[in-house]
Formats: sequence, structure tokens, C-alpha cells
Amino acid sequence: PQPLRLGIAGLGTVGIGVLKILRKEAAMLTARTGREITITAVSARNRSKDRGVPLEGYAWEDDPVSLATRDDVDIFVELMGGSDGPAKAATEAALNAGKDVVTANKAMLAIHGQELAELAESKGCVIRFEAAVAGGIPVVKALTEGLAGNNITRVMGVMNGTCNYILTRMEATGSSYEELFDEAGKLGYLEADPNLDVGGIDAGHKLSLLASVAFGSRVAFDKMELEGIQRITLEDIRAAADMGFRIKLLGVSQMTGRGLEQRMAPCLVPATSPLGQLEGGTNMVVLEGDAVGQIVLRGAGAGEGPTASAVLSDICDVARGFRLPVFGQPATTLRETNGAVSNTPAPYYLRLTLQDKPGAMAK
Ligand code: NDP
Ligand code: HSE
Repeated sequence: PQPLRLGIAGLGTVGIGVLKILRKEAAMLTARTGREITITAVSARNRSKDRGVPLEGYAWEDDPVSLATRDDVDIFVELMGGSDGPAKAATEAALNAGKDVVTANKAMLAIHGQELAELAESKGCVIRFEAAVAGGIPVVKALTEGLAGNNITRVMGVMNGTCNYILTRMEATGSSYEELFDEAGKLGYLEADPNLDVGGIDAGHKLSLLASVAFGSRVAFDKMELEGIQRITLEDIRAAADMGFRIKLLGVSQMTGRGLEQRMAPCLVPATSPLGQLEGGTNMVVLEGDAVGQIVLRGAGAGEGPTASAVLSDICDVARGFRLPVFGQPATTLRETNGAVSNTPAPYYLRLTLQDKPGAMAK
């Protein structure tokens, strides 16, 4: 078979991680996919930046759209980020030119996933996005492939490492939310816009993508009940601990009689449960299917290696010829959802009702 030729836009944390694996593991990847995987061209903003990896041998494109539409590129690998702007423009250009797309961009897909999926499928292209949800945890594949014989009844999880880091450090150190927010920033954990993390938006983007795959519904981030961790106080943390609970920014999505319920909000979870034992910047996703029961996946939700690992799994799938629809079934057959909010009893978590006044829950 012909080599599979990649054009990679974005040479930051994730892009460089992908480049390193492609360079180091070329023989292994060829053996596993039956196809040589090569890099034709790359793009980033600053051409002269030293990225710690040699870039000679790859063509350079200043404009990601030019990269995405090159005749010698088969897959456009979008690792720039941002819901709109160059990421969306180049993704659309790639699909219009008949290229497959691999992306880690949850913000773009949570907002434009339906139109991009319809465009991809009308052009006979695929979009793969394993890295966009829970980083290194192969949860999209678990749903689309491993659990294909199940009706999924619920997906839930902790999908933002920054929030889990701040919450678990508040418990361990007694430092305030504000102090740990600053610490997370110094450690480089925060997104460029930190409100995406602490406001629950980044985790909400991820949950909306998972819900679409799990329930065959259109991505409905705009219909999600959403609250971040900004109002959690040390008093809240201590009161939860006194009752045998921990506070987690927990996403839950389930199909109810009234429609798809999606909620990303601080919750009390029993300290002894798998979710209650999740420490630091890790992620956990819990999947429930009618045949399989409950599955718990835990691992690194961010970082160079784990996120690149997920991008490579998508590239390998394309190399092997897997042509799954973007959200697991044709985009035009995905159901509209009404964004139901129910009070269905939930055995694993309790929604924390935070008052406007900081600490009011505990007093
Ligand atoms: P970075 O900020 O580290 O890197 C972004 C890269 O995109 C940079 O190389 C930048 O160029 C390049 N870029 C930005 N704008 C343009 C443009 N207009 N034209 C060409 N290149 C451009 O981001 P990450 O690697 O952390 O994230 C990439 C994607 O992966 C995002 O969608 C993110 O949400 C997602 N993701 C990231 C995870 C992580 O752990 N970091 C985890 C899961 C998903 P330059 O370097 O020259 O500035
Ligand atoms: N800021 C995100 C997090 C990065 O903390 O989980 C991974 O998507």
C-alpha cells in the first residue's frame, strides 16, 4: 500500500508529542497498520521557534489551510485548538478537499461538530477525535467499538484534570481555591483561558461529545446544565469530608424518559467509590451499558505523551482503513435533544447546591 501522508498543524504540547512518537516508532506503526505513516508538512505560527525536535525534511506552511489542502497530504492532523478561526477554517478546507481529519479539539467539535460531521460524511471523509475526550483514555473507541452491542444507559466522569488537581490539593493542603488556582497556573495546567477549566466549560465540551457517541444524539453542549468549581470553599471540602464524601467536578449524561440529561457540576461522591478515590490531575470515565454493566476507565487526561497516544490511535485507525461515521452513526441520523433536566435518583453522586455566598453550604 501507498504510505499514509500527514499534514500536522500545531506544534505545541500535543503536536510535538505526536511528532516524537511518529519518529521513534515508525517501524512499529508500520507493522501494526500495514502501512508506512509519513509526515509531509507541518504548520505553526512561529517558524523559527526551537521545538526540541528536528523539522528539516518536512515542508513548512505558514497557513494551515494551505497545509490542509496540499495534494501530498492524506490526513489533516489539527492540533492548534480554538473553536473557530484557523482550526475550523483548515478543517473545513481539508474535508472539502477530500482529506480525513484527526483532531484533539474538543472546543471546535462541541460547537461545530454536527456541521463538520455532515460535511465529512458528504465528502466520504472521516473525522477522528479520541484525544479530545479525556486525553489518553481511549473512551471514544470504548463506546463506538468495544461497547457497540450495548444500549448505553449512562456516561459520567471527571474530565478536567485541572479542576481535580485544585480540588484534591485543597483537601490535602488546606490551601484556598485562589492559592491553588495560581499554583495550577504556574505548573502550566490551565488553558490559555482558565475559565474554560474552572468554569466547567472544557469538561462540558468533552461530556457533550461523549453523550453524542453514547446516545446517538446531536452534540448539544448548548443544552447542558453547567457549573464550575469557582465557588467551592475549604468549608465545603471539610463538610463533605466529615460526611464521608469528596467534591468532584462530575459530568453525568443519561437518557431519561424526557430526553437527554447532561450535567457538569460539582458533586458529592462517596470517598470510597472509584470516583471518590481519584487524585490529582487524572481523569476517570464511567460507562454503563445494558449488557456489560459498569466499566471504569482511569488515566491521564492531558499532557504530551497521553494526548499524543490518543492522536496516534486515530491515525492508525485511518491507516488500517476504519471508516466509522464521526459520532458512531451517520450524522444525519443523530437525534435532536431537548436538554432535559431530571431528578432521577443517582446512586453514585449528589449534586452540590452552591449558594452565591461563598461557603454558605457548609455554614
Ligand atoms: P499549544 O498551545 O501547546 O499548541 C498550539 C499550537 O498551534 C502551537 O504550535 C501554535 O504555534 C499553533 N498555532 C496556533 N495558531 C495557529 C495558526 N493560526 N496557524 C498555525 N499554527 C497555529 O496547544 P496544545 O498542544 O496543548 O493543544 C492542542 C489541541 O489539543 C487543543 O485543541 C487542545 O484543546 C487539545 N488538547 C490538549 C491537551 C493537552 O494536554 N495539552 C489534552 C487534550 C486535548 P506556535 O507554537 O508557533 O505558537
Ligand atoms: N485543561 C485540560 C484539563 C487539558 O485540565 O483537563 C486537557 O483537555
